[in-house]
This record gives sequence, C-alpha cells and structure tokens, in this order.
Amino acid sequence: MHYKMPILEENGYVVLRDYDGPVIGEEEYQHLGFMDWKSGGDTNFAPLASATGEMECGGFWEHGQPDKDGIWTKNEQVSPSLARYVRSIGVRFGRVRVIKLNPYTSREEAYRNLHLDDNNRLNPDGEGWVVRAWLELTHCPDSYMVLRHSKDDAASEHRVAAVRYRQLVVDTERLWHVVSHLGPEPRYALITSLESGPELERWISSQLPAGFALAAASPAREAGPGRSEAGSSQRRVRVA
Ligand SMILES: [Fe+2]
Repeated sequence: MHYKMPILEENGYVVLRDYDGPVIGEEEYQHLGFMDWKSGGDTNFAPLASATGEMECGGFWEHGQPDKDGIWTKNEQVSPSLARYVRSIGVRFGRVRVIKLNPYTSREEAYRNLHLDDNNRLNPDGEGWVVRAWLELTHCPDSYMVLRHSKDDAASEHRVAAVRYRQLVVDTERLWHVVSHLGPEPRYALITSLESGPELERWISSQLPAGFALAAASPAREAGPGRSEAGSSQRRVRVA
C-alpha cells in the first residue's frame, strides 16, 4: 500500500491556478539539451533531473530505484528558473524533464497515443504514491491534455487546456492521458515526478485557485466550473 492523496481520489487529477512567478524565458527550455525519447507522440525530452545526474530519460528502475531522489543534470545550469520552481515545491522529486511535443497530424493520431505512465515501479510499500506535475511553458490554447479513466471511455474524458503557465497534478499511472496538439509550433512543458504526502498536499493547497481550499476530512462537493477544467472537484471546496 502506498499513501495516496485524497485530493486526487475522485478524478485522479487537480488543476491548480496558473503559475504567477517570474517570467520563464524561452531560452530556458528551448536551449536545453534534448534527447530523442518517444512518449505519447513525436516527442523529445530534456532531463533536468535523472536517476544518476546523467543526461538520460529512462526509468529510475534501470538503476534499481523508484522514481524519487532525482539528481540534477547539466541542464540545471541552462534553466535556473525551472530548477528553482521544482525546489520551491518542497517535495521529494524523481524525474524532472521538459517535453518538446511536435504537432500531431490529426486529433485522431493524438488519441491513438493515449497511455498510462509507469511511475511506481520499485516504490517501497508504505511510501507515497508517485504522481506527476505539469507546468505548461508555451501557450497553445487550442491544445489540451486528454484525461480518461479508461482508454476507450470517451464519456470519462476531461480536458485541460495547454495554456502558458497552467499547472496541474495528475496520477498518470491511473489516468490515460495524451496532449492533443496540432501546432503549428512545438509545445513545451515541464513534467516532474513527485511523491504524494503532506508536503505535496501543502504545496497543492498553496496553489489552488483563489477561493478554493482542500476539504478537511469528509468529502465535500463544490459548485465549481464545468468538467473540462474543473479538475478534482471532490475534496476541493470553495471558501468564502
Ligand atoms: Fe505519460
């Protein structure tokens, strides 16, 4: 058994308020060292933290460890803002990578790339479940992350627009996901593996949209926005 956060219990993800810190210049993600690594389409990944600190994108399990305790790579020097951002979360992190997603040729092609992640291999019993946080770096308002409870269940689909500085946390080992992106330019985003626990709950709580707070003990429903952007409405309550 692993510790899982109540905030993700109902929907498996939560949309936070948009990042409002210092501007992250495009040189901090476009000038990173990228590697040809395919995941969910025509993608390249720039590792900012890896299992060993080397420039590699593989699973931490290849080094006999869970997706935790990532070590900064030389890309950290290229992107001090993103490294600062990850440190500011204050949570045990594993893989930290910037994804460069080239456009799909069609929505259908994007949906064919729906997949689950492998975040918890070798995660010791009793520790926190590994989830992933996104920070969108480019502004692609016509693109969106598709989230489904099962691959072919369109009725369960939620969408989160890939707009600049959007932040969200997703249990990507539970939810099928892909970003439907038709371009014309590549889309960039920071993806960080994070350990579930009180520290991450504190950070999520600090990043909720104005007027929202985590529910204390019992589930509570809020009259939030529509399902496409609402995120995990269960246990996220509107406060006066
Ligand atoms: Fe994924």
